[in-house]
Amino acid sequence: MADYDYDVLVIGAGPGGYVAAIRSSQHGLKTACVESRETLGGTCLNVGCIPSKALLHASELYEEAHSGALAKFGIDIKGASLNLDAMHAEKAKAVKELTGGIEFLFKKNKVDWLKGQAAFTGPYSVDVGGKAVTAKNIIIATGSSVAPLKGVDVDGKVVVDSTGALALPAVPKHLVVIGGGVIGLELGSVWLRLGAQVTVVEFLDQILPGMDDEVRKEAAKIYTRQGFVLKCATKVTGVAVKGKTATVSVEPAAGGATETLAADAVLLAIGRRPNTDGLALDKAGLTPNARGQIEVGHDFQTSVPGIYAIGDVTPGPMLAHKAEDEGMAAADFIAGEVGIVNHDVIPGVVYTHPEIASVGLTEAQAKERGEVKIGKFPFLANSRAKTNRDTDGFVKIIADAKTDRVLGVHIIGSLAGTMIAQAAQAMEFGACSEDIAYTCHAHPTHSEAMKEAAMAVTGKPIHI
Ligand code: FAD
Ligand code: NAI
Repeated sequence: MADYDYDVLVIGAGPGGYVAAIRSSQHGLKTACVESRETLGGTCLNVGCIPSKALLHASELYEEAHSGALAKFGIDIKGASLNLDAMHAEKAKAVKELTGGIEFLFKKNKVDWLKGQAAFTGPYSVDVGGKAVTAKNIIIATGSSVAPLKGVDVDGKVVVDSTGALALPAVPKHLVVIGGGVIGLELGSVWLRLGAQVTVVEFLDQILPGMDDEVRKEAAKIYTRQGFVLKCATKVTGVAVKGKTATVSVEPAAGGATETLAADAVLLAIGRRPNTDGLALDKAGLTPNARGQIEVGHDFQTSVPGIYAIGDVTPGPMLAHKAEDEGMAAADFIAGEVGIVNHDVIPGVVYTHPEIASVGLTEAQAKERGEVKIGKFPFLANSRAKTNRDTDGFVKIIADAKTDRVLGVHIIGSLAGTMIAQAAQAMEFGACSEDIAYTCHAHPTHSEAMKEAAMAVTGKPIHI
């Protein structure tokens, strides 16, 4: 140890990095975390998960109050109006509390926060704002940033990325979203609820790539009913901005006649790319793969012993909880323990209304591997959803036809994000659909739809 400043140096204080740093310190390792932002928490806490969920929650409340949807419950609200500045202020407060919370946790766990941009000067040494720091182990957790699109300049005013879309100073009249993925639909939902017309331009023939096909179809139906205009199989060829207006040129993905869309806001959300620029990876002896990611082994170690990588900068889904679990596991390996992340069981949630949540294989993926049995149960037949007058969606369980082992669970429904934890845990324990079917679920809850879907795998649901 005497030869190094730290046992562990983490680069990046997002959910991957800050968790790795805290866990390393809990293992008794002398730890520092470098972060170039003014606040800790990375993309997730500053400009990702947290502010987006704050606006999703607030916009849902606004829509409920404003649209008259509560009248049928005997709640008449007249004159509900939007104070967007207050909404942004409440969002900022949540972000400040949570990023401040990480600072507190760093102090509590004796993690040194080194402020500045890190760049490798050798395998075990980095430069942080002109200061050399050495460490026996280095964890790269530099995350990701918005992927650019040729012909579309993000000016931060009319054409924005997700960060800009979280801070629009006024509700646009017409927001064109480029990309029908998670960001486009979540942030599109925010502005749709607040009164914007929202058009989503998606290159593929369906929104939400990677999700189960039935869920994608159902989601598109519901979003369209909510007022989204979904232009699938369509590509954006350019955006021209004049004053406060943008003209978005689109054409069929397969080629064809160009059409233009006039908008006063454009959100570019076609994916994210790993952050490795400026890290001088070559000085550490590392080369990113063709997708710009840093490849790692089962222990999150790169090709250079003692250098680890986790989170968005590595292959796999770009999700905060994946980054966190990898951060813990990498720290455990460094401490000589076995870190565990089961990459087959990482849930994903889209926080629109209804929510969409999934874990494991889609039907198509499962069928590629063998015969399957499928159980589906609609919320229309779930007593709690019916009582709440909120019956969109279903639970779908895919099980191996021979062993009955659960291979994937897909939920579209208002509480899908919370319900998916049960499915993930069941899969982690190697559950069969029968195990879920014979588990007593409280009544009346949305979770009973999970039990019924499990019973439907063998063709014996009760309430449908
Ligand atoms: P990041 O959170 O990106 O953190 C990396 C940090 O490293 C950054 O703070 C960066 O400043 C710092 N850094 C980079 N390079 C250097 C350097 N050279 N020196 C010093 N510091 C450096 N995921 C979910 O699971 N749920 C959600 O609801 C969700 N919502 C999202 C909403 C939006 C709008 C966006 C954009 C993303 C969302 N995500 C969500 C994705 C989630 O934010 C990321 O998967 C997660 O933040 C990745 O964590 P990370 O630690 O790998 O990297
Ligand atoms: P995404 O990968 O989810 O969706 C991008 C969409 O853009 C895809 O549907 C893709 O087909 C489409 N696309 C690509 N090029 C296009 C083009 N030229 N024209 C039109 N469409 C095009 O990426 P997104 O939404 O930017 O999100 C980035 C990442 O952030 C995701 O990987 C996700 O994991 C993470 N995230 C997670 C959230 C969550 O967990 N709730 C919320 C927000 C982001």
